[in-house]
Amino acid sequence: MKSVKDYIRTIVDFPHEGIMFRDVTTLFADPRGFRMAIDQMLHPYAGMQIDKVVGLEARGFILGGAIAHQLTVGFVPIRKKGKLPGAVISEAYTLEYGEAVMEMHDDAVKAGERILVVDDLLATGGTAAAGIKLIERLGGEIVSTSFIIDLPELGGRKVLEDMGMDVHVLCE
Ligand code: PRP
Ligand code: ADE
Repeated sequence: MKSVKDYIRTIVDFPHEGIMFRDVTTLFADPRGFRMAIDQMLHPYAGMQIDKVVGLEARGFILGGAIAHQLTVGFVPIRKKGKLPGAVISEAYTLEYGEAVMEMHDDAVKAGERILVVDDLLATGGTAAAGIKLIERLGGEIVSTSFIIDLPELGGRKVLEDMGMDVHVLCE
């Protein structure tokens, strides 16, 4: 029986020399792999109240859409700067191979809504931390954060836990 990890491929030196890129497109493309990943990501939240799923660009959209559908709740995207059409709030952050700005529509989350944050991978935690700050600025209450992969040597999990977050990952 294959595990989620077995479906993930590694591309060496992408997008820069020295980066081992963990590519989940091979997991998403496999019907058993994709369903296994979504089912395992959902498992810890059985019976919990979640009002919205927030997905981080780009692969968090694929996972977050499937998870929101399964929970019958709405989905909210957090996107790279300049992509969202309405009024936004922004947070700058650094990541393993660069710097960027994340944005969210300023009316996408209401104060007190219970939010599940989803992405494919946790590296330095910069992307997720920026997303968490955006949600909290709008008064959202983050129930948990969920990722397929954690790269433990980059310390992202500790960054999120130090922010008081519950963190679930499927593999390292
Ligand atoms: C990857 C990954 C996470 C982020 C994790 O996205 O999908 O969103 O990096 O890194 P961090 O924990 O160090 O912030 P990437 O920035 O490559 O953007 P993309 O999904 O738009 O390709
Ligand atoms: N984002 C940051 N580091 C990454 C890695 N090694 N593989 C895939 N996505 C990443």
